[in-house]
Amino acid sequence: PSGIAPNGIIVLVGLMGAGKTTIGRRLAARLGLDFVDADHEIERAAGCTISEIFARHGEPAFRDGERRVIHRLLQGGPKILATGGGAFMDPQTRALVRSRARSVWLRCPLPVLIRRVSGRAGRPLLEAGNLETTLAALQAQRHPLYAEADIIVDCGDDSIEHGTQRIIDAL
Ligand code: S3P
Repeated sequence: PSGIAPNGIIVLVGLMGAGKTTIGRRLAARLGLDFVDADHEIERAAGCTISEIFARHGEPAFRDGERRVIHRLLQGGPKILATGGGAFMDPQTRALVRSRARSVWLRCPLPVLIRRVSGRAGRPLLEAGNLETTLAALQAQRHPLYAEADIIVDCGDDSIEHGTQRIIDAL
C-alpha cells in the first residue's frame, strides 16, 4: 500500500537515537499533522519519568503501559506517532500498527546511534554496561522486526530535512 493510512496515522519505529522524535516533529509540521511522542504520553499517564517507571516497577510494567498507550493513540485521529525503540517488538503492538497505520523504520548505522545517545540520560536500557555492546545487541535482536515496517528510510546523515524528505517521498 502507499500513501498515508486511511486514519492518517504514521508510526515511526527504530532504535534509540535514530531520530524518531526529531524527524517526527519535522514530518508532522511538513504534513500538517499533530505530533505525539509515545514515551512522553507514557510519562504523562504515569506521572513520572521512564527511568522512574523502570526503577520502581521494572521493564515489564513499562512495556504494559507502553502497549496500552500506543493502542489508545492508534484509535485516535491522524498524527505522526513516535514510539520508543522497544515498542515495535511487542507482537500485539506490531500487528495493530501494521493494520491501522503506515509504519516507517528510521534505520541508522550503529556508530551514529552511539554518538547521538552518548552522555544523554533517561534511557534506562543504556545505563548499565558498555554502550556499544548494548546497542549492538539491541540492533541484532530488533532489526529483523523493524524490517517489517511498511517503509524503511535511512537516517544516518544527521540532516533532519533530508530524512524527512525521504519519508515524504516514500509515503
Ligand atoms: C527504549 C527506548 C526508549 C524508551 C525506553 C526503552 C527501548 O525510547 O521507550 O527507554 O527499549 O529501545 P527512545 O527510542 O525514544 O529513546
